[in-house]
Amino acid sequence: MTTPDTSPTANQESPWGAVPETAIRPALPADGREVARVLLEAYEAAWGPSGWEDYRVEVGDTASRMRDSIVLVAESGALVVGTVTIVPPTSRLASGLGPCTAEVRMLAVVPSRQGRGTGEALMRAGAGLAQRLGLEEMALHCDDDLRPAHRLYGRLGFLRDPASDRWVGPDMMARAYRRMLPLPPPPSYP
Ligand SMILES: CC(C)(COP(=O)(O)OP(=O)(O)OC[C@H]1O[C@@H](n2cnc3c(N)ncnc32)[C@H](O)[C@@H]1OP(=O)(O)O)[C@@H](O)C(=O)NCCC(=O)NCCS
Repeated sequence: MTTPDTSPTANQESPWGAVPETAIRPALPADGREVARVLLEAYEAAWGPSGWEDYRVEVGDTASRMRDSIVLVAESGALVVGTVTIVPPTSRLASGLGPCTAEVRMLAVVPSRQGRGTGEALMRAGAGLAQRLGLEEMALHCDDDLRPAHRLYGRLGFLRDPASDRWVGPDMMARAYRRMLPLPPPPSYP
């Protein structure tokens, strides 16, 4: 999928690189393996090594996501430390959450880099990208047990959309959230 100009100078309002020594940029084909590594490390830390074998295959398939959506990476030094995928409503991967809605998928930050604002910076970069694509809203699903992610979405002003909730396993509900763009200004940490 063609990625619009997402260089730091393309949108002065977007806090690209707001986390010290971390830059956010669109993923290149050569990043595919690193993106999969980051996702698998982060989900494995959250869920443990087993019980999500089917999803593990989907998580590892960065090539098809890069073809049909826009994958961003957070990079520190030469290392990919985080990622998020933005799915425009016209993508074949879109699940029909709205004609002006960007879907957020596969947000992850490696455990050793969590708690520094990288997850939030990726969400803000994704929001800036969605706005440049002319979209008005972001929407996502988040499994019930991913508590840090639920807190992040709450901080960014996402609201619950129970009508779009879906069961992803016999005991697991993926909770839906939506948020009109732009996002609220970033908090200041002491
Ligand atoms: C959800 C996830 C991406 C968040 O990444 P992250 O980089 O840790 O996110 P942030 O650093 O922006 O926020 C995490 C915490 O650090 C705090 N924080 C951020 N920057 C900070 C700073 N400069 N100083 C102090 N605290 C800070 C935030 O307030 C937040 O606090 P909380 O946990 O009490 O809510 C990460 O936990 C992850 O990969 N989880 C597993 C996968 C997952 O759940 N993905 C979402 C699927 S829907």
